[in-house]
Amino acid sequence: MGQLAFSVTSNAITDTHSHPWDAAAAGWNSHAALIHDWLQDATQTMLDEARIGPGLSVLDIAAGAGDQTLDIARRVGDAGRVLATDVSPAILALAQKNAQAAGLAQVSTQVADAQSLGLAGSGFDAAVCRLGLMFCRSPLLALREIRAALKPHGRFSALVFGSPQRNPCLTVTLATARQHAGRVNAVLPGATHAFEPGTLMSLGQPGLFLELLQTAGFVDVAVSTVSAPMHTLSATHYVDFLRSSASPLIEILAPLSAAEKQHAWHDMIEQLQIFNTPSGWTGPNELLRCVAVSPA
Ligand SMILES: C[S@@+](CC[C@H](N)C(=O)[O-])C[C@H]1O[C@@H](n2cnc3c(N)ncnc32)[C@H](O)[C@@H]1O
Repeated sequence: MGQLAFSVTSNAITDTHSHPWDAAAAGWNSHAALIHDWLQDATQTMLDEARIGPGLSVLDIAAGAGDQTLDIARRVGDAGRVLATDVSPAILALAQKNAQAAGLAQVSTQVADAQSLGLAGSGFDAAVCRLGLMFCRSPLLALREIRAALKPHGRFSALVFGSPQRNPCLTVTLATARQHAGRVNAVLPGATHAFEPGTLMSLGQPGLFLELLQTAGFVDVAVSTVSAPMHTLSATHYVDFLRSSASPLIEILAPLSAAEKQHAWHDMIEQLQIFNTPSGWTGPNELLRCVAVSPA
């Protein structure tokens, strides 16, 4: 295993600052099986691209409740190490709990904003980030922090949401939530505010992800599209998932009364019927996957 320079004093969460994602932590964790199935293929390819294997030290950024962290830990084995980081103490506590329950002692956690990781010079062999980078208001800062945490020639792979046009179920739900919340600029495909920094599809702007990776100093950079449809029994099941786990939607609807929120969620179910299939419900999603290398 590559010798790690970072030090994690314990597996305990010490940062007590709350974050909006704290409110979605339990919901995201309780839908672990759905999320795992949804992202399984994309995740394994991301880990392949980062060349994660036995004995490596791996940084997992915006790790959430740790679904991909457990996959990484199993790949690196007992001789490897995984540091799972996230800005939300509540969701990261669940990642730690899940790793402990799975008997994966090679996992440690550290509450950290991706934009200020503070892990420069740590010499990680590889880093990954699954569906987290687009939430950074400055993804460039985050990418620089990640590159600095890698050893020379260390590999980075990440998944983010692609464009609004290619993620119509996200576009529909965001637009509906914004309408109900009285925000006039609903997220419509092609609208420039769809790419507002820190929002769900902010890195779906054509060419942006590649440019940011290059500007952050990575080499051998490539970005490709990945189809990742989500299958559920019905639109209602999908909205059940969103209302407990989708922090961006929860935040948009937060000012509404309980009855108004209920109305908004119901409206989303209606709108999402267009994705019904003979065997249930399938929401199209297109992700972008990057692979990048830290320079020598
Ligand atoms: C959609 S969840 C993905 C979680 C996990 N990677 C997965 O795929 O299951 C997004 C995660 O990004 C985290 N996050 C959002 N903004 C962040 C930031 N600035 N720095 C680090 N993590 C962040 C949230 O707390 C949340 O856990």
